[in-house]
This record gives sequence, C-alpha cells and structure tokens, in this order.
Amino acid sequence: MITFANVTKTYGEKKAVNDLSMTIEDGKVFGFIGPNGAGKTTTIKLMTGIIAPDAGTILMDGMDITKDPIAVKRSFGFVPDTFDMYERLTGREYLRFMGDIYCVPKAQRTAHIEKYLQLFSLEDAYDQQLRSYSHGMKQKLAIIGALMHEPSIWILDEPMVGLDPQSVYLLKEEMRAHADKGHSVFFSTHVLDVAERLCDEIGIIKQGQLIAKGSLEELRGEGDSTLEELFLELVEKGE
Ligand SMILES: Nc1ncnc2c1ncn2[C@@H]1O[C@H](COP(=O)(O)OP(=O)(O)OP(=O)(O)O)[C@@H](O)[C@H]1O
Ligand SMILES: [Mg+2]
Repeated sequence: MITFANVTKTYGEKKAVNDLSMTIEDGKVFGFIGPNGAGKTTTIKLMTGIIAPDAGTILMDGMDITKDPIAVKRSFGFVPDTFDMYERLTGREYLRFMGDIYCVPKAQRTAHIEKYLQLFSLEDAYDQQLRSYSHGMKQKLAIIGALMHEPSIWILDEPMVGLDPQSVYLLKEEMRAHADKGHSVFFSTHVLDVAERLCDEIGIIKQGQLIAKGSLEELRGEGDSTLEELFLELVEKGE
C-alpha cells in the first residue's frame, strides 16, 4: 500500500506537488495522468526518495522513505522516464550491476533475465553496449533491471514511451499479473486508452493538485464518457 499525506514540493515559487493526499491499495494498477508539468514525475521522485518533500509524508508498505531509505528502496522497483546512464556497459553488465546492488540470488537472476530477454526479444543486444541501444531497447532493459529483485511495488514513469506495440502488450500483461498477485503498480502515462483499459484506479493531477481519483466508473458517475473525455473536461474546468 502507498499512502501520501499532505505532500508538498516547491521549486522556487512553483508548487510542483501541492498538498497531495491519497492511498493506493494493494492489488491495484494505479494510473497517474495529467498535463505536461502537472507534477507526475515530481510525485514519483518523492516516492522513490530522489527528492525530499517540503512537507507531508509518504508511506510505502507502512515505511517512510525519509526515515528508512534502504528498506523502502528494496521494496520497490523503479523505471524512470529517462534512461541516459551507463552508456558503456553492455546489457549483461548493466543487469549484473542491478542484480548486485539489489542482492538478487543467482538462480532468481538467471530465471528473470532469461524470461524477460526472450519476452522483449532483447537476446541479440544483450552483449552490446547500451550506447548502441534504441530508446525502446533501453526502456526494456530498464524494466528488466528494475524488476529483478521481485519488488512488491512497481513504480514506472511513462513506461510505454518508445516501446513497440508487442512490448506494450507484454508490459501491460505483466503489470496486471503483478497487481493480481496482491501487489501495487503505480505508473504515469499520457496514453489514456491504455490507462482506461488497464487501471483499477486513476488519479488526475493538475498544477500539483489531485483533481480526481477513483475507478473509471467512479470518475464517470452516471455518464458513459471515455477517460479522454473525462480528462479533457476535468482538466479544462476552471480555465
Ligand atoms: N528540478 C526542477 N527545478 C525546477 N522546477 C522543476 C524541476 N522539476 C520539475 N519542475 C517543475 O515542476 C512542475 C512539475 O514537473 P513534473 O516533471 O513533475 O511534471 P510531469 O507531470 O511529470 O510532466 P510531463 O507529463 O511533461 O512528464 C513543472 O512546472 C516543472 O517545470
Ligand atoms: Mg513527467
């Protein structure tokens, strides 16, 4: 379970995240949507301990990352929106590095890597340096590395960007299966039809504030709008 209580992060005058409170229950795929600059990545950076909040607390499975950073970091797998490091490592070296820092036992590593290299058709690139990878190939490798320690919470910032349709499909299946095992999946996206079909719950953030949260049915109320229609309506309200 992930709980935000009155979380605020300010950059200069700008409240990138403004008094955010929400809970994401276990067993749910949660999609975080909002216009560019709304505060999605900032929220994810706060959850993952990359930046600290000015106020408020975030609990991941009951643990506070500001108090217990190592334990919390072990509990989640994180795929960032940009992946521009370690250009001179090969795919194999990168995954060995990830396996080492997360202390993943050898058998678990091998099984995980074999499964995902095959699923993502990445076997041929495994021994090439990351600088030769396309954006989508890097994205796939980041996903493989982030999930190797079998974290209970998955946090993915725009994970579908750059992936081919087959890989998007596979990733969606994996996200669904992970939540169905009773774990949490938190991801941001601009692809509203994916969010509409995949998510158990959706949060909409605008200018740092959570303006709606719930299942598609809850957000819809009596109507039968698509998520895109709801999004446009909610985001444009008051402008
Ligand atoms: N390091 C930073 N320094 C100053 N301002 C920042 C910084 N990071 C983010 N911001 C500002 O905080 C706000 C929220 O940015 P954030 O990256 O969280 O948006 P986002 O919802 O992820 O957008 P996108 O959909 O484009 O990825 C924006 O106004 C942005 O300019
Ligand atoms: Mg972002």
